[in-house]
Amino acid sequence: MKLTTKLLAATAIVSATSAGAVDLEVMHWWTSGGEAAAVAEFAKAWDATGNTWVDGAIAGGGDVARPVMVSRILGGDPPAAFQFNHGLQAQELIEAGLMLDLTDVAEAEGWEDIVNPPSLLDACTYEGRVYCAPVNIHSWQWMWLSNAAFEKAGLEVPESWTEFVADTEALREAGVVPLAMGGQSWQQSGSFGVMVVALAGLDNWLAVNRDKDASVVRGEAYGEVFQAFADARDMAEGLDVQDWNQATNAVITGDAAAQIMGDWAQGEFAVAGMTAGEDYSCLPGLGEVAILDTGGDAFYFPVVDDPEITAAQKELAALLLSPEVQVAFNSVKGSLPIRGDVDLTTVNECTQKGLDLLAAGNTMPSGNQLISPDVNTQLNDLMTEFWNTPSMTAEDVQERYAQIIESAS
Ligand code: BGC
Repeated sequence: MKLTTKLLAATAIVSATSAGAVDLEVMHWWTSGGEAAAVAEFAKAWDATGNTWVDGAIAGGGDVARPVMVSRILGGDPPAAFQFNHGLQAQELIEAGLMLDLTDVAEAEGWEDIVNPPSLLDACTYEGRVYCAPVNIHSWQWMWLSNAAFEKAGLEVPESWTEFVADTEALREAGVVPLAMGGQSWQQSGSFGVMVVALAGLDNWLAVNRDKDASVVRGEAYGEVFQAFADARDMAEGLDVQDWNQATNAVITGDAAAQIMGDWAQGEFAVAGMTAGEDYSCLPGLGEVAILDTGGDAFYFPVVDDPEITAAQKELAALLLSPEVQVAFNSVKGSLPIRGDVDLTTVNECTQKGLDLLAAGNTMPSGNQLISPDVNTQLNDLMTEFWNTPSMTAEDVQERYAQIIESAS
């Protein structure tokens, strides 16, 4: 705990009208307009308990934020709570005994019965103990489209990646950049993963990401996706933005026609006052393979030597999964709740498509659940190199991708 936060917490304890009011510093990378609005719902709910949410937002996305969080923890100055993605990102911290065991909270709150799909609780569980509080389901498997951009080009909004590709030339003629892509490596690598599932099928994706079968990367189906990704690189020429939400903004303004991005993009459309179906459209699985991955976010709570803080951390963990907070947060965030027993208040047509896929069990694990952070970084680095090096061919990137998967097996 930061000294200032500790002092604040101590002051709060002494002066609070509600006994035991505690300040908790919570670190996350939710800094876009939609994300900030969503995290404000968590802060509001926590503050309403008489405690105080000390917001520790880190700009620049998860790849920037996670190392900062880890260095705070390893440096003995941990925040009270922090966001990671569902999956393997916290494994080493758990193994090192640095994460608070939340098993008693999970048992008292019946998480085993309410968390849906159960794989999200499994992702928090290590050697039978629960170490995180899952807060949402976010899927990467989406494309977002500007209805105005297609109208400008005299086109119907496409219903699949294949139809979209056929529109590229007409979009260019109308002065629209077909595909919006930001400069961060995770955006390029993540989009490629979505294209693999949509164009080569889930079995091939699993063979590579779960079974680490490099021969599948070298095979024909993956080869076609690398080629399609090279074409996507051409489609994105003409838009020079860095952050994912700047790319989403190009779709919002109609400067770009489409973006492959996780459903957190919906938070941006909402903040811009846009209506799903009227102003923008969405294609889960790129309109090719109707599936969602069950990625998303979970909160971890570092071990601190202060019983008051520990009790407050557990109180916050329970609160994040409460029905009211799940509805309030996920309605704004564009994500789906992690409990099957709550209804979002107003659901737009895109969220409804997501809920239907979830209810039908059309789900798959996220990359973070199968690939170690280290291998993920290598793949991100490779895909961004490819994206930024026009002379690098689909065949070049295919072989290097295969080598990374080979060394991960
Ligand atoms: C998180 C989302 C977040 C997105 C962009 C993802 O890793 O799961 O909650 O909105 O990154 O910042």
